[in-house]
Amino acid sequence: MKKVLITGAAGFLGSHLCDRFIKENYHVIGMDNFITGDKKNLQHLENNPNFEFIEHDVTEFVSIEGGLDYILHFASPASPIDYLKIPIQTLKVGSLGTHNLLGLAKAKKARILIASTSEVYGDPLVHPQTEDYYGNVNTIGPRGVYDEAKRFQESITMAYHRFHGLETRIVRIFNTYGPRMRLNDGRVIPAFMGQALRGEDLTIFGNGMQTRSFCYVNDQVEGIYNLLLSDYSYPVNIGNPHEITIKDFAEEIIKLTGTEQRVIYKDLPVDDPLQRQPDISLAKKVLNWEPKVGREEGMKKTFEYFKSLSKEELYKSEHKDFNNHIRR
Ligand SMILES: NC(=O)c1ccc[n+]([C@@H]2O[C@H](COP(=O)([O-])OP(=O)(O)OC[C@H]3O[C@@H](n4cnc5c(N)ncnc54)[C@H](O)[C@@H]3O)[C@@H](O)[C@H]2O)c1
Repeated sequence: MKKVLITGAAGFLGSHLCDRFIKENYHVIGMDNFITGDKKNLQHLENNPNFEFIEHDVTEFVSIEGGLDYILHFASPASPIDYLKIPIQTLKVGSLGTHNLLGLAKAKKARILIASTSEVYGDPLVHPQTEDYYGNVNTIGPRGVYDEAKRFQESITMAYHRFHGLETRIVRIFNTYGPRMRLNDGRVIPAFMGQALRGEDLTIFGNGMQTRSFCYVNDQVEGIYNLLLSDYSYPVNIGNPHEITIKDFAEEIIKLTGTEQRVIYKDLPVDDPLQRQPDISLAKKVLNWEPKVGREEGMKKTFEYFKSLSKEELYKSEHKDFNNHIRR
């Protein structure tokens, strides 16, 4: 049985990845320190003999008993309100955490896949973004802590690949959504759905003409799985290129949720990218992958999940004061 270590396992993407590898009959070791994750995302695996969990901060030395075939490094705060609240931890998990896991991969002769992000392109001057675009990042802006941690993460990963001959993979993840996202993480989908469920107006920052493209979690996980098992060592964009303005998206959410609320407008936050759209030609070519789940289907499933949450979770207001400053 192949053994895989997944860091950030209690988070949104990490928990879905655990499910995917369990389904493929791997022995999965999940690791997390719960800084932004939630135990309940892994509850369903608790009694699974092929799953074990280690509570650990990956910025500290990571040791695993026995052999290891694969490592997927997904630990990192991922939403702007999180990394603004914990900027040093964000920088540390991208740098020290990645260094620790590369060292572990080297010791175990394991293949390692690193979760990078479309944020490495910053506020892009090229549209849509291809992997050979170097990006436009403000190093000292509020988002710099995340963007630069991820850029460093890519550099050190390539250094281990070139210098030590380590088998490495780098996925540049574009906005992904689905069940197990946190309702109050400040990202636009849970924000709109939460507002609709609470009977609040939907807040748009700026004039709503900024665009986003959203990838359903199952598609994202499939792309990551294919990349891990491929022989391609350079970064690959995984996301859904279907672009929509935030204004049109708010209308879609109003229709989906049946809310009678309206849209209200607030000032655009600092460094909020105006356009973000992946060019996925490379993923199509080297991974034979493209997204399959349409927005209507994916949003429906996501809304079902948010509807199933308790009233307490629906009204929990972690980070409320950050919402006016930063939004993705
Ligand atoms: N969700 C997206 O749309 C998206 C987009 C681009 C990149 N990513 C990347 O994917 C990964 C997962 O994102 P997510 O959306 O699932 O976020 P998430 O916050 O739901 O999950 C991240 C997990 O990492 C854990 N973690 C953070 N620091 C840790 C540390 N030092 N030690 C151990 N565990 C730690 C958290 O507790 C959490 O469970 C991140 O690396 C993120 O940068 C996600």
